Amino acid sequence: MAASAGVSLSVRKLDVEWVRRQFPSLNQEVNGRPAAFFDAPGGTQVPQQVIDAISEYLAKWNANSGGAFLTSQRSDIIVEQAHEAMADFLNCAADEVIFGANMTTLTLALSRAIGRDLKSGDELLVTCLDHDANVSPWVCLEDRGAKVRTADIKPSDCTLDMFDLQAKIRRSTKLVAVGWAANAVGTINNVQEAVRLAHDVGAMTFIDAVHYAPHGLIDVKALDTDFLACSSYKFFGPHQGILYGKRDQLLRLRPYKLRVCSEKLPDRWETGTQNHECMAGVTAAIDYIADVGRHHGSGVTTRREAIVAAYEVFQQYERELADLLIRGLLDIPGLTFYGITDPAKFAQRTPTVAIRLEGYTPRDLAMRLGERGIFTWDGNYYALNLAERLGVQQSGGMLRIGLAHYNTAEEVHRLLAELRSLAETASTT
Ligand SMILES: Cc1ncc(COP(=O)(O)O)c(C=O)c1O
Repeated sequence: MAASAGVSLSVRKLDVEWVRRQFPSLNQEVNGRPAAFFDAPGGTQVPQQVIDAISEYLAKWNANSGGAFLTSQRSDIIVEQAHEAMADFLNCAADEVIFGANMTTLTLALSRAIGRDLKSGDELLVTCLDHDANVSPWVCLEDRGAKVRTADIKPSDCTLDMFDLQAKIRRSTKLVAVGWAANAVGTINNVQEAVRLAHDVGAMTFIDAVHYAPHGLIDVKALDTDFLACSSYKFFGPHQGILYGKRDQLLRLRPYKLRVCSEKLPDRWETGTQNHECMAGVTAAIDYIADVGRHHGSGVTTRREAIVAAYEVFQQYERELADLLIRGLLDIPGLTFYGITDPAKFAQRTPTVAIRLEGYTPRDLAMRLGERGIFTWDGNYYALNLAERLGVQQSGGMLRIGLAHYNTAEEVHRLLAELRSLAETASTT
């Protein structure tokens, strides 16, 4: 049962056949075997309706914005619809949504604007668990005299050390930058507590929701964060970054911008011509998520309610699949697992896991699996602080297996069988 704006929604179990029919790329083969996409944290697959929306924009409506003719007017509507769709997705107002090339570019733009108001001695807090896109943009502000501190993790299960985080938030802290979920090992952080601790000392908060967005419902109002960023290519959409900011913060800060760009929201943050075709795709991606909610839920009326229902369905399904995957991995001899393994704590993780297998570098493993049609990722996935902290940076990082709601139990069994066989081959050579 999910609750949204006082409405009770009930959902049924994910209909994975129905889901997979929406994604044309899932039908591919590699060397005669079906492709199994375990690369979701690097970028999810895209449903047909997203492909159609992007194609339709380019085929029919391609124009710059602000003109006095049909295709330009249509482009303006598409831009507006994308802001409204993201507002439903994040639970905010449409003018609090800023579009940009990707999360990294938007975060760098925000950090430059925040940096204009910093003075020597101001502190910023980042974490050891995060993607570098939520670290380096803040470290860059050391040239403004700011000092960057780093909250540590507990290496045993790759969870954030909340005592360390709390201890490092002080009166001089101006910004706390935390990831909602770790793209390398799947840990879901207690961002509610991080926001509360930051606000207690008057610091702003920036939440990187890139990895969380395909797995968990975002409600920026409930979270009360000042800023949050995500990328739609991680939640079934095209390559497009999105930044949320509280309206008063977006108006107060001074972004670097052109004179011709108005001071209104969201214009003052959306530099240059936007990617209209991708914006059409973002709306379609959110409509896809809402369709999942409608297909599986009852009592759903608004798009936001449908999104809430969809995440209930995603979570139930992904947790079962993650349980199957993690139990199976832990049984493989010579395998090192990084992250939360206790099923009682699965609410604190996404279905993204990182491993190493004795006898193989992560690259070797990814290549061997890749030849068998199983797509995983190797390296540090730009979670550089974490790879260094875990001591794996110099030896190829880890192998990342990331599930999305379009993966199946059969695919997980296939992956486990391949890993077991690779483990056996390694121990006999
Ligand atoms: C957790 C996380 N944050 C930030 C990023 C960077 O996002 P983008 O590629 O949109 O710049 C990624 C990309 O992998 C990510 O996984």
